[in-house]
Amino acid sequence: MNVTAHPTGSPHQRLFLLNRARPTAAVVAQIEEFEARWIEPLMARLTETTEPVGSRTEWVARLEELLAQERAGSQAGSYLAEKATREEFARVVREFALDGLTEAQNFFPAIPRLPLRAQMAVMRVLIDEFGCGNQRQAHSQLYLNLLAELGLPQDPDSFLDITGDETFQFLNVFYWLTQRADDIAYFLGALAYLEASIPDAFTVQARACERLGIANGHYYTEHLHIDTFHMQEMQLAIKECETAGGIDPTKVWIGARLLSELIGAAFETAVARAREAA
Ligand SMILES: [Fe+2]
Ligand SMILES: [Fe+2]
Repeated sequence: MNVTAHPTGSPHQRLFLLNRARPTAAVVAQIEEFEARWIEPLMARLTETTEPVGSRTEWVARLEELLAQERAGSQAGSYLAEKATREEFARVVREFALDGLTEAQNFFPAIPRLPLRAQMAVMRVLIDEFGCGNQRQAHSQLYLNLLAELGLPQDPDSFLDITGDETFQFLNVFYWLTQRADDIAYFLGALAYLEASIPDAFTVQARACERLGIANGHYYTEHLHIDTFHMQEMQLAIKECETAGGIDPTKVWIGARLLSELIGAAFETAVARAREAA
């Protein structure tokens, strides 16, 4: 992937390419300049509209509340699960290919920012994302299998010009959360939310694969299983941070809200675009 090969891309595509480029001073300066216009106002709004969270117990309760609301499902979700054609489903798979093919790579810079015991919990999540070192089980490999069955390309570059801005925002936010957010609590809340929401969210795609007779839906069913452990590891990581010196539960919660907004928008847009195109 390289920035100069895509001179007319959208601003978020450009940011994604910069995030994956060699981090020279010039590259990082461009990233920071873009993020100042994008993430800073977004975080300012979320911070203003978030009622402070008094404790870690309260954070867990707020997250549960949010997940329960989302569990009720969205129109886009029920459409994809029960009505989407194979072509529409393939378009949604295509939209999230850059996520599936770079899955969890952008979480690593969080590790040195965490206390040791919290590092262990996050590392256990990361090890699973990479199939415990077994390529056949690596989540990106499971995504490659799905892409192959749907007749879609295997190399990430093929998806750069067809991925929407909403999806790029969801991808880009983790580069900011792990490397430039002033408090790692935002990242922990964001990933805790993501891991906890996926078992419900991917029930939709797993159902669509079953209904459409797609054999390589293992990418989704694997997440239904493994993310129930990952959500516990992320709560443990937050607890370990608290024990090691304290963590601001309000920032953890803001991180979760941030991710909920971005992934929600990316998913809704992806389904709407797939329906329009079909
Ligand atoms: Fe995963
Ligand atoms: Fe996970």
